[in-house]
Amino acid sequence: MELTNRLVLVTGGAGFIGSHLVEALLNAGARVRVLDNFINGRMENLPPLFYRYPLQVIAGDVRDGPALTEACKGVAVVFHLACLGVRHSIHSPKENHEVNALGTLRTLAAARASGVARFVYVSSSEVYGTALRVPMDESHTTFPRTVYGASKLAGEAYARAYYHTYDFPIVIVRPFNAYGPRCHHEGDSGEVIPKFVLRALAGRPPIIFGDGSQRRDFTFVKDTARGILLAANSEAALGETVNLASGCEVSIGALAELVLRLTGRTDLRPQYAPPRPGDVQRLFADVEYAADLLRFRPSTPFEIGLQNLIAWYQSLGRRPEELLEEEQVSNWIPQEFER
Ligand SMILES: NC(=O)c1ccc[n+]([C@@H]2O[C@H](COP(=O)([O-])OP(=O)(O)OC[C@H]3O[C@@H](n4cnc5c(N)ncnc54)[C@H](O)[C@@H]3O)[C@@H](O)[C@H]2O)c1
Repeated sequence: MELTNRLVLVTGGAGFIGSHLVEALLNAGARVRVLDNFINGRMENLPPLFYRYPLQVIAGDVRDGPALTEACKGVAVVFHLACLGVRHSIHSPKENHEVNALGTLRTLAAARASGVARFVYVSSSEVYGTALRVPMDESHTTFPRTVYGASKLAGEAYARAYYHTYDFPIVIVRPFNAYGPRCHHEGDSGEVIPKFVLRALAGRPPIIFGDGSQRRDFTFVKDTARGILLAANSEAALGETVNLASGCEVSIGALAELVLRLTGRTDLRPQYAPPRPGDVQRLFADVEYAADLLRFRPSTPFEIGLQNLIAWYQSLGRRPEELLEEEQVSNWIPQEFER
């Protein structure tokens, strides 16, 4: 679908990936509405609300039917990203389900009622659980290890049910781990790459949970956002499910070494801590379907993306030690119980 001058809704648009998607959509000439409750999103992630940007921001919750109805009014495409993350699901499984699974069902219902022409559901590689064979194509078994993965899979099931029952035009994308500017180092949103980078910049060793042999397929966030946008463009993608990833894997141990090299801190050695519950051992995507269906190929090599993230942290004008005050080391444990 041509997006120029179309009104599109991005739920979770003030978040990490959502804000890059908003930027890509504005660059593509779309008019963008964001619905976000700002639990983990930030106003400063979005372009300033000057008159020249066709951008509108609604502070609202995907658990709130009337807010969703308002947000979907006049919208051609919904990109549904609002969610709570994997570590949140470990300490608060029911709330995670309510936002991720039930919130998706509510968003689908509001979008259908207002006659939206395309619904892009942003799922996650966590629906797969750990790799049983690699590379993992979209027919790989879905056996999530966490309530987060299960709730994202429930969202997929609801989206597919809407497609088959109501002929509602959905597309499901499954991003693998994303990294880049505006990623999270703080609280239970904190991800491995920003935590390693900030700690190295502050002269502290990276902390690896488990033995570091876990492998991930990391994608630069601007590539992920471009893939999500392309899912709205492709007619062939209707009703389909497609991976968005780089198609390269790296172990967490090797990642720690690479971050130490790129930050000039090879004097530091990683520290090891007990594994995180529900951690997935290996994710490594087959990216051929995305190339065929969406004409999507990521374009940012891993080292370049990491250098970009390091430069972004250095450009913030805040000392890494100060940013690390927001870090929670074992960030799946409710803070009051952490020793
Ligand atoms: N970051 C990754 O590596 C990754 C990988 C795979 C899939 N995803 C998916 O991409 C999407 C975005 O993830 P992200 O990494 O940008 O996370 P994020 O936390 O930065 O973004 C999620 C946004 O949703 C908002 N939100 C949370 N609960 C809400 C609610 N009840 N109502 C309205 N807004 C709410 C948050 O404030 C935040 O801005 C999610 O759907 C996630 O499952 C992310």
